[in-house]
Amino acid sequence: MSAEKEETVLCFFINGKKVTENHADPETMLLSFLREKLRLTGTKYGCGGGGCGACTVMVSRYQPSTKTITHFSANACLLPLCQLHGAAVTTVEGVGSTTTRIHPVQERIAKAHGSQCGFCTPGMVMSMYTLLRNRPQPTMEDITQALAGNLCRCTGYRPIVDGCRTFCQETNCCQTNGVGNCCLDEENNKEPKKEKSQLFDKNDFLPLDPTQEIIFPPELILMAETVRPQTLTFQGERMTWMCPVTLEELVRMKATNPKAPLVMGNTNIGPDIKFKGVLHPLIISPVRVKELFEVTHTPHGVWVGAGCSLSEVLCLLEKLVPQFPEWKTELFKALIHQLRNLGSQQIRNVASLGGNIVSAYPNSDLNPVLAAGNCKMSVISNAGTREVPLDQKFFVGFGKTVLNPEEIVVSVFIPFSREGEFVRALRQAPRKESCFATVTTGMRVFFSSRSRVVQEVSIYYGGMGPTTVSATKTCAALITRPWDEETLSRAYDVLLEELTLPPSAPGGKVEFRRSLTLSFLFKFNLEVLQKLREMNVITDELSEKNHIQPLPREIQHSLQEFQHVSKDQSTQDPVGRPIMHRSAISHATGEAMYCDDIPQMDRELFLVLVTSSQAHAKIVSLDVSEALQLPGVVDVITAEDIPGKKVRTMTGYPEELLAATEVSCIGQMLCAVVANTRAQAKRGASAVKISYKKLPDPIFTVEEAIEKSSFFEPRRIIEKGNVTEAFKSVDQVYEGEIRLGGQEHFYMETQSMLVVPVGEEKEFNVYVSTQAPSFVQDAVAETLNIASNRVTCHVKRIGGGFGGKVTKTAILTSITAVAAWKTSRPVRCVLERGDDMLISGGRHPVLGKYKVGFMNDGRILAADLQYYANAGNAEDESVLIAEKIVLHMDNAYNIPNLRGQAAACRTNLPSNTAFRGFGVPQSLFVVENMINDVALVLGCPSHQIREINMYRGPSVTHYNFKFSPENLQRCWEECKLKSDYSARCKAVDQFNQQNRWKKRGMSMIPIKYGIAFSEGFLNQAAALVHVYKDGSVLVTHGGIEMGQGIHTKMQQVASRELNVPTSKIYISETSTNTVPNTCPSAASFGTDANGAAVKNACEILYQRLEPIRQKNPKGSWEQWVKAAFFAKISLSATGFYRGPDLYMDWDKMEGQPYAYFTYGVCCSEVELDCLTGDNRTVRTDIVMDIGRSVNPCVDIGQIEGSFMQGLGLYTLEELKFSPSGLLYTRGPSQYKTPAICDVPLQFNVYLLPDTDNPNAIYSSKGIGEPVLFLGSSVFFAIKDAVAAARSDSGLMGPFPLHSPATPERASLACASPFTQKVPVSNPGSFTPWALNI
Ligand SMILES: Cc1cc2nc3c(=O)[nH]c(=O)nc-3n(C[C@H](O)[C@H](O)[C@H](O)COP(=O)(O)OP(=O)(O)OC[C@H]3O[C@@H](n4cnc5c(N)ncnc54)[C@H](O)[C@@H]3O)c2cc1C
Ligand code: FES
Ligand code: FES
Repeated sequence: MSAEKEETVLCFFINGKKVTENHADPETMLLSFLREKLRLTGTKYGCGGGGCGACTVMVSRYQPSTKTITHFSANACLLPLCQLHGAAVTTVEGVGSTTTRIHPVQERIAKAHGSQCGFCTPGMVMSMYTLLRNRPQPTMEDITQALAGNLCRCTGYRPIVDGCRTFCQETNCCQTNGVGNCCLDEENNKEPKKEKSQLFDKNDFLPLDPTQEIIFPPELILMAETVRPQTLTFQGERMTWMCPVTLEELVRMKATNPKAPLVMGNTNIGPDIKFKGVLHPLIISPVRVKELFEVTHTPHGVWVGAGCSLSEVLCLLEKLVPQFPEWKTELFKALIHQLRNLGSQQIRNVASLGGNIVSAYPNSDLNPVLAAGNCKMSVISNAGTREVPLDQKFFVGFGKTVLNPEEIVVSVFIPFSREGEFVRALRQAPRKESCFATVTTGMRVFFSSRSRVVQEVSIYYGGMGPTTVSATKTCAALITRPWDEETLSRAYDVLLEELTLPPSAPGGKVEFRRSLTLSFLFKFNLEVLQKLREMNVITDELSEKNHIQPLPREIQHSLQEFQHVSKDQSTQDPVGRPIMHRSAISHATGEAMYCDDIPQMDRELFLVLVTSSQAHAKIVSLDVSEALQLPGVVDVITAEDIPGKKVRTMTGYPEELLAATEVSCIGQMLCAVVANTRAQAKRGASAVKISYKKLPDPIFTVEEAIEKSSFFEPRRIIEKGNVTEAFKSVDQVYEGEIRLGGQEHFYMETQSMLVVPVGEEKEFNVYVSTQAPSFVQDAVAETLNIASNRVTCHVKRIGGGFGGKVTKTAILTSITAVAAWKTSRPVRCVLERGDDMLISGGRHPVLGKYKVGFMNDGRILAADLQYYANAGNAEDESVLIAEKIVLHMDNAYNIPNLRGQAAACRTNLPSNTAFRGFGVPQSLFVVENMINDVALVLGCPSHQIREINMYRGPSVTHYNFKFSPENLQRCWEECKLKSDYSARCKAVDQFNQQNRWKKRGMSMIPIKYGIAFSEGFLNQAAALVHVYKDGSVLVTHGGIEMGQGIHTKMQQVASRELNVPTSKIYISETSTNTVPNTCPSAASFGTDANGAAVKNACEILYQRLEPIRQKNPKGSWEQWVKAAFFAKISLSATGFYRGPDLYMDWDKMEGQPYAYFTYGVCCSEVELDCLTGDNRTVRTDIVMDIGRSVNPCVDIGQIEGSFMQGLGLYTLEELKFSPSGLLYTRGPSQYKTPAICDVPLQFNVYLLPDTDNPNAIYSSKGIGEPVLFLGSSVFFAIKDAVAAARSDSGLMGPFPLHSPATPERASLACASPFTQKVPVSNPGSFTPWALNI
């Protein structure tokens, strides 16, 4: 094909070591190469599509032309191995390790408590490390930008930011006393000095010494400088990779292979191959063609090489802007705005300018701006060179442009703007950062000299159809006219008519998208008017109220207040002290082992599941013959292969492991393909042929389930007082309803398991990521029809669980075990993110209806609540969740007549399961919304209604459980005080009066959360403690380390009880052969139960050593232990905890289902852009009563993390299902969990001091779940802001706002003149793109 010499050996460096691959496979991404081939498992798989950052590495390259070395972060999951020739890759292992030296980044993230489960930590470390390599003293903005593409599901980000912040040179002032005022400032500090609580001490940190970093391999510099580049060709099994050197060669290659894509950043082609199964037999990689990277300046603008990464383009434009008069760089600035918000830094570092343009995404951020800005491209092919304007004609269809297949974009011309020309770019996305836009726009207007008459105008939108579109008619309505209200008002009408969307348009959000086009034009209008005024072209008075400043984004210092241990406590006793997570350093170095990090076993197979594509159908045939023919496929497991129980059941309804005759949801597991490799198993799974016969009337929504009485029985009801009678005597009655969407667990480590047949007597070792190893053990034994004593489950740690790794994991492991049993080989199953989201279900969506009776003074005398939870196709724990819903429906309020019922609706969606809070976040949300409505009806602040109705004095719940709400009241008062509630409410009112298009809102929400299992038998735990002859202690207990720090706390307990330092105590894993019959780590009860069991075991051991101690009171622990051994005293003890006998009598509607309550109150304030629905939580204050914390930093971590998960639930995370029941949202690209941009700008946590709890270990309280609900304070603050916006439009009283309060919902609820203009299609007259489940 080419005359040039070819090179076929791939050569690059990883962590300073040379890697030469003679047979590099173009299908291999760096991530699998690192993990599977080099066994560098610190780099994690979280999504495979560039959306989570778990796989972040640093790539360094030497540029011979400039003799510089560049370092950039990249997602290893999208980085083709073949792209790395000549590069140096640094992974977390190369940054530092416990065996060599820990890097300051690793140390600081760990010591600042920035890791919980630790699965995201290596990615965080790598993003931050790369930043420091480029900027050793970054700004906070640099840090938040660098970490924007790294998701964490555990921490709430605050501690990660705090750890990273220590590298900034910025002021170390805490700003507690307002901007610029530090608490240490004597003048400002009138209060007596208290010991300041600190979660970590910066003085402990290693300094950052850039000279200590790995150097760029000199060999690669030499190679770049001296070796004449040759064409690289790598030949894989199914794909060939060619990397030309010259433009001429590239043109030739493309002419001969017009269908071969040019792979630059691989951020479009990569996901296509991975998720859509596209196969490209040939790939051309032009990364070494220098013309594609050239930047040429002309008097009219700049030509930028199409191969330049988006980060390089951003950097170039940022450098150019200050060099020219402001008016000249209008387009540059608009592009900078888009580039800063496009994707994540990892994506921008590799994604190319040409790639973005040619990919022609309907919602590309750049194309509308480039098009509006009159940009053009220089394009080359064997037919020659031509210039192609980037305009309306360029985009011809979804992902298609006018370019011929053999054409290559060499460079893009970005012109200077002229005086009197304004260019703006705007975008609105479901999440503020690292998220494709819903609608995006580029707008340009040019005025005749010093007038308001429009000479040229150009408006383009993305997200309004299959291509970037030009609002040509709208432009026609503006051109030659004066830019004034009349013209604009006509333009809005034309725009509305011009850019329509069918009601079932793909992507949904039809009304919102249409309203955004108007809102953007309005925002542009305001900015243009402002500019014209500044230029003295017009003198129109512009109301201050109309000014729209961007939402605030600067993260401030936060407070974490906790009570110090008493001065009398021994310094060795760690209980009550903020001790770092015991594995935090290993998390940060990547040494911490998760299930899929276990090295491959001899003859190991990989399992991939085949799932149903139909929601409700008979299985007519299942043909596995083709799959079995494929290379590497060893077997296909179906229901028939299961030797034992083929179904699982919770409280009566059976759930098949693998569907045999009928399917009842899309995503139901049908069979499993086992093959020698992941890729082969995946290909095998795609080759299984299933035919179905559709069954009628699938049920998807709760309304359909209610209509057809499709429930999992029993439904639960509790009534206190006489609700019906009470409604007759109240001043007012109000009825309302609210929906709360579901939630995906999105644990960073997907479901993973490895089942290893031991080889004799039907024994199996099971390594599994589960919260409930005994449950998995039972399931595997029953499925294989063997005794439980042949199955040992091992759990070292899990990368997050949140309730999602109990029942579903047991089923998945059972299927994997059948494969291991049938093939007599080890079998591993690690779900891809998309399959995990599809198969494993999540939080139950709920429809809540209520009728509330109240007096005009705000007292609520009666409430009747109905909850319908969408359970999906299997019962799982849905009935138990319904129970918890009604048990909690009083929240913090004493409503004398209260009735509630909850039903688990059986539908044809994937079965939902336990999720942190277990129904409580749904239950309380409906109640708090009801209270909010009462406040809106009465026209008074909602906190007043809350206060009036709150439990006071000795109290009794609606199920007759006596308790004291004293600490609830204390939290409430403390939160008001700490948040400066009254003063800030006034400030919010003032802000709202001064702003028409931005509003602020505040809310204060309480929680009373019941701890422990209401099924009394689950409140038990056991532990096994061994003391070895050298004095070291091995603790095992039934709890699972899933990030909540249970092992750290258990270490603290053992340390106190044995009176030995924590360094002597080790916890290796949780396993069913050391501690049997354990209960799941759930219900916020792990520390209470296991802590008591560990304490018990340690007490026994301590007692046994008493005679030895008495004989030698001055001896050391080691001496006593040795003496005990020689005295034949057992140094091993089992501890047991027989927890409270809780119960609930559903017939009598009374019981004692909880051991005690954890209380808390949270105040949040948001700022809302009413035109786009964009919002920012400006401040959150949480006061929690968690008794005497065993470990304040772990507990504060739980508080912050669950708050953020709640914030996600109530404001961000949206699961979308197609009308046929297919889950659309199957990865971080479509499903947005909170990222760093969602953290409250000021995020304060206070632990209520001086509280005791006789019901739990060391007077502590369970905290894993309660705070999640407090995330709803952000929802209610948004609702408050929306109410303020509505009142500007004359709309008062209650209004519907369902959860999550996404920008779409918030903006539409604001009822601005623009949203009001958009016609609403009649429900029922069309099939919506997504279901309202
Ligand atoms: C997680 C994630 C988030 C993202 N977020 C955003 C976002 O917020 N906004 C946004 O606009 N985009 C976003 N993107 C899209 C991203 O910007 C584009 O995928 C990227 O710019 C494409 O460039 P690439 O170099 O990676 O293309 P590749 O995947 O390497 O190639 C893409 C296509 O472009 C063609 N091509 C590449 N270069 C040339 C050339 N010089 N001449 C002719 N054809 C060429 C190739 O043939 C191929 O068909 C996101 C992508 C991901 C994965
Ligand atoms: S695994 Fe690579 S970004 Fe998620
Ligand atoms: S610590 Fe970040 S995902 Fe668990």
